[in-house]
Amino acid sequence: MTRLVILISGRGSNMEALFGANLPVEFAAVISNRADAKGLQTAAIRGIPTGVIDHKTYVDRAAFDTALMAEIDRHAPDLVVLAGFMRVLTDGFVNHYAGRLINVHPALLPSFPGLHTHERALAAGVKLHGCTVHFVTPEVDVGPIVIQAAVPVLNDDTPDTLAARVLTEEHRIFPQAIRWFAEGRMTLTAQGTVRLSPAATDTVPLVSPPLD
Ligand code: GAR
Repeated sequence: MTRLVILISGRGSNMEALFGANLPVEFAAVISNRADAKGLQTAAIRGIPTGVIDHKTYVDRAAFDTALMAEIDRHAPDLVVLAGFMRVLTDGFVNHYAGRLINVHPALLPSFPGLHTHERALAAGVKLHGCTVHFVTPEVDVGPIVIQAAVPVLNDDTPDTLAARVLTEEHRIFPQAIRWFAEGRMTLTAQGTVRLSPAATDTVPLVSPPLD
């Protein structure tokens, strides 16, 4: 069984989506950089071990990441997932988990890496926005893409309405990506892309706004 360690910083709705997806994995631990992360309670109620490594108590990023790695490795994970973990990670951390560190990002990468993705998508006037699950590499929000979901952007959208539409899709694609990993269906290519096997064959285009 694939052992999963989940890192969160807040609400933990993506973490909950994993809990509810009947995945062939064992939830080894949920770790947060914030003691007040709501998701810690959600995990504890399910009897999943939780931990807090508070970034504010470390002198620098490297010291925090070293402590975080020690806490994660205590649980011997096969896969570490960032489910709304809002810290930039050092190269040392990312390389330690190369090929077994996955993140969900609220934009269609490589568009809109970083923060405030929904505001930026609205400002750019894109007609399709969405979310991405990807392997984590040292450069922030750049690693090999596993799966993406696109949603329409509507005239009257606010950052909140758009975020809600995207979050619904995050909750669908994140568990799917973890399932594919657990089932051994993903290969990282030499070019730094992900290949799924058996391959998808659907070619239905997404058009937004829809054609008349
Ligand atoms: C999610 O929208 C996730 O994509 C985003 O934070 C939110 C966490 O919500 N992550 C990032 O922006 C990472 N750069 P959740 O705690 O309810 O899962």
